[in-house]
Amino acid sequence: MIEKIKETADYIRSRNIEIPDVAVILGTGLGALVDFISDKIAIPYTELPNFPVSTVEGHSGNLIFGKLGNRPVLAMQGRFHYYEGYSMKEVTFPVRVMRELGIKTLIVSNAAGGMNKEFRVGDIMIITDHINMFPENPLRGKNLDEHGTRFPAMTRAYDPAMISRADAIAERNSIRVMHGVYVGVSGPTFETPAEYEFYRIIGGDAVGMSTVPEVIVANHAGMRVFGVSVITDLGGKDIEEIPTHEEVQKAAAAAQPSMMKIIRELINEID
Ligand code: HPA
Repeated sequence: MIEKIKETADYIRSRNIEIPDVAVILGTGLGALVDFISDKIAIPYTELPNFPVSTVEGHSGNLIFGKLGNRPVLAMQGRFHYYEGYSMKEVTFPVRVMRELGIKTLIVSNAAGGMNKEFRVGDIMIITDHINMFPENPLRGKNLDEHGTRFPAMTRAYDPAMISRADAIAERNSIRVMHGVYVGVSGPTFETPAEYEFYRIIGGDAVGMSTVPEVIVANHAGMRVFGVSVITDLGGKDIEEIPTHEEVQKAAAAAQPSMMKIIRELINEID
């Protein structure tokens, strides 16, 4: 495993790229961040040794190196979802490579369904914590001692200082942001009303099909994490609307400018 990670990292280094210390996983609702990256070098996943092979046709992914403001960044355009059939090791392989490259901060974004009764479609939720409801943990199996300890703490999986920074950015830009607990599920079904209700009762504010595996691995590897969700639909026993992929895409697109503002300023400000 570690050899494969090193091989991929070595390949990237061999391209004479300035290696950043921040990476962003562009989920639904943050894709257009790429448009703000200058001096771009895009490496298609298909060129990267050991990277998972994308099964979905026309669903290309790229690692994009460049500058956001004055800061070098790596943007992951397209992530691997567990529901597509990838193993947890494949889903989290890119995060292992990031850590191997020396990246210290990981920013993740996603679309999620809201259970918190105060939430509205289009809200931005800063993730303060998560509940892993995937059927497995990405760290199951032999521990990768080179990256971290066998039993890593997840007490501060989402960096409190970055959350405060993001709050301040949102406030000065008059952007409404909520805080909440993200429940990570395998999908690909959206939840039944009873499931949304269950995830709310156990302490969740929003539910989605990504992020948790990457965040667990990033924490294992000692990276600092910031996560944000766009609330694209609402679920629960009193909610009549039926979520659809199209609606999720539309709501995420509408929230994109605010989401991008927060992430761009956050990246500029972090030390
Ligand atoms: N459930 C799970 N994943 C999602 C949802 C949802 O309601 N909305 C966007 N991603």
